Parts: sequence; C-alpha cells; structure tokens
Amino acid sequence: MRYGIIGTGWIAESFIEGAREITNADIVAVYSRTEEKGSAFAERNKIEKVYTSLEEFSKGDFEAVYIASPNSFHYEQSKIMLEAGKNVICEKPITVEPEELEELQTLAAEKNLIYMEAIMYMHNPGREIFRDAIGKIGKVTSAHFDFSQLSSKYPAYKRGELPNIFNPKLATGCLMDLGVYCVYPAVDIWGIPDKLTATATFMESGADGSGAASLIYGDKVITFTYSKLGQDYSGSAVFGDEGTVTVESISKLTYINKYGENGDKQELLGDVAKSVLMGNEAKGFEYFIAHPDCEKYALSSRTALHVSRLMKEIRTLADIKFE
Ligand SMILES: NC(=O)c1ccc[n+]([C@@H]2O[C@H](COP(=O)([O-])OP(=O)(O)OC[C@H]3O[C@@H](n4cnc5c(N)ncnc54)[C@H](OP(=O)(O)O)[C@@H]3O)[C@@H](O)[C@H]2O)c1
Repeated sequence: MRYGIIGTGWIAESFIEGAREITNADIVAVYSRTEEKGSAFAERNKIEKVYTSLEEFSKGDFEAVYIASPNSFHYEQSKIMLEAGKNVICEKPITVEPEELEELQTLAAEKNLIYMEAIMYMHNPGREIFRDAIGKIGKVTSAHFDFSQLSSKYPAYKRGELPNIFNPKLATGCLMDLGVYCVYPAVDIWGIPDKLTATATFMESGADGSGAASLIYGDKVITFTYSKLGQDYSGSAVFGDEGTVTVESISKLTYINKYGENGDKQELLGDVAKSVLMGNEAKGFEYFIAHPDCEKYALSSRTALHVSRLMKEIRTLADIKFE
C-alpha cells in the first residue's frame, strides 16, 4: 500500500516504522507546512516527495493517507483527502465532534473508501485476551481504568510556553489525548452506559490537565481517571466475583494478568513493542481496504462513533471547551 503522511511529529515516525515492519507499507510522500521540516522528515524517514500544499498533496500518487496533525485539523484534512479519493487512517480522536465523524463516514461509504481511526486498542491482539479474561472472572460489578502520564511537554508549559497539547484552540488536553484510551475498551466491552458522571481539572491555558468519569451500566460501574500532570504506576483493573483482571497499560494492553478467587496469578500477556501496535493499525486498515464489507470494519466504525459521542458527553459534563 502506498501512503502519504500528514504531520511530522514523533507519532508519524512511529507509524511509519510500524507500518513498514508489519505490512511492508510504501511511504511515498509527506505533507508539512514548511519545506524545511518536511525535507528533514523525508530524509530521516526515506520518503521521496515533500508537499507544502495540501491540495497538491491530495493529488499525489498514493491510495492511503495517515493523518497525525493536531486534533482540530483532523476533520478538515480527512474531508479533503476523502474527496480526493484517498483512504484515510486518522489519529485519535478521529474528529472533535461526533457529527463530523458521521458525515465523513457517510462520505467515505459513498466513495467506496475506508475511513478509520488510528486507535491501537481495536487492532491489538491483546484486545481478545483482555475481553476473554474478563469473561472468565464471574459477574463484573466494577472496573477502574487509568491513563495518567506526566507530559513531556509540561516543563515547557511551566516555563511559560504553550505546547499544542495544552492549547484548547487545537482541541487537545487530557481527555482528548489520554481519556479516549479508557473510553475505547469500556465501550467495546460493555457498550453504551445508562448514565454518566464526569469532571475535570483545568490548567491556566484552559486545557483539562486531569479528569475522571464514571460509566454506570445498571449492574456495574466503570470509573476512569486520566492525567497529563501526574504519572500512574498501578495500572487498571476489572473486578469480578470470581476473579480480577489487571492491565498495566490500558492504551497498549501490555502486561495483562488474571487473578482467581484464591489470588492465584496467571500471566496472559507481557510487553508489546509500540512499533508492533502501530503496525497492527496499518495492517487492520489495509485489510479493511481489501475487505470493505467485513464485519470488523463495521464494528470499528460503530465503536468509533459511540466513543466519539461519549467523549462529547464527558466534555459537556466536565465543562471542557475548545475555542
Ligand atoms: N497513537 C498514539 O500513540 C499517539 C501518540 C501521540 C499523538 N497521537 C495523536 O497524533 C496527533 C498528533 O499529535 P502530536 O503530538 O504529534 O501533535 P503535534 O506535535 O502538535 O503536531 C503534529 C504535526 O502537525 C503539524 N502541526 C503542528 N501544529 C500545527 C498547527 N498549529 N497547525 C497545523 N499543523 C500543525 C506539525 O507538522 P508540520 O509543522 O510539519 O506541518 C506537527 O509535526 C494527535 O491527534 C494525537 O492525539 C497519537
């Protein structure tokens, strides 16, 4: 599959490494706002062509585009690429508003193109292991998912700079960046909750720095905590009346363990390299392009929409606003 890349941050490099490793992807072009950054990125990653015009890029000789720009650009850039006939894999969160996602899912379907959220969870072999283990711990009445990761951009913020991730104008912040990784497995495993509570703390920039949400399903409550201003070392857990499942990283689903009623521990999965996780997204995307009518693509599109709607509800309850 020939790809063009939008965005020149570290995550785009991570996608390229994973896609080349897992699918043999042919990365042929990159779009950057500046020739200088684009050329440096192209040289580092052995990419032939650099575009600084999005319109020219959209006419490039490739079938697929990977988008890794700040969140507020996802909708517009995805729309331009779909209209130009490209299949699109776009970084999480795929759009800011659920209505935008619905619109672009319809557009992609009309044009027989694939439009997919680049979310590791849905394409991770750990997903089946996690779901299967949860099915074996009896009646689940509670779970706690945490993604708290002290941001590498926080020192710059404290020095008075405004990194993109803490700039509400770009629809970033903690929920959009990290909270989404808690929402995905909850929606995938238990569906849409009956009730929701949510709150957040705010930085001076207006971005949410940390937050919490509870999803109430009648017979169970799933709580989320997420922070860009503190580091988690204790992981996430699902509690059943016959056992417990723990996972060290809810985003990568690494180090999954299952504990029985007596506390006996079964190690189900260890570490998985980030490049493998990113490469699996590319593999899933390419499979969808080859099999657009497959059930997994329909599931992935439905789940993306449910997640997007729930993210919107959390933002409303927690008063998270973007300009
Ligand atoms: N899957 C994962 O594990 C993972 C990890 C990190 C991030 N992400 C997602 O990847 C996306 C990008 O995140 P990031 O942290 O890489 O973002 P970023 O560094 O702020 O921006 C990414 C790229 O977008 C362009 N850009 C930056 N600011 C811009 C602006 N104001 N207007 C237009 N273009 C701009 C830049 O490329 P040019 O200067 O070359 O144009 C930049 O290299 C986000 O959606 C994020 O949620 C995913």
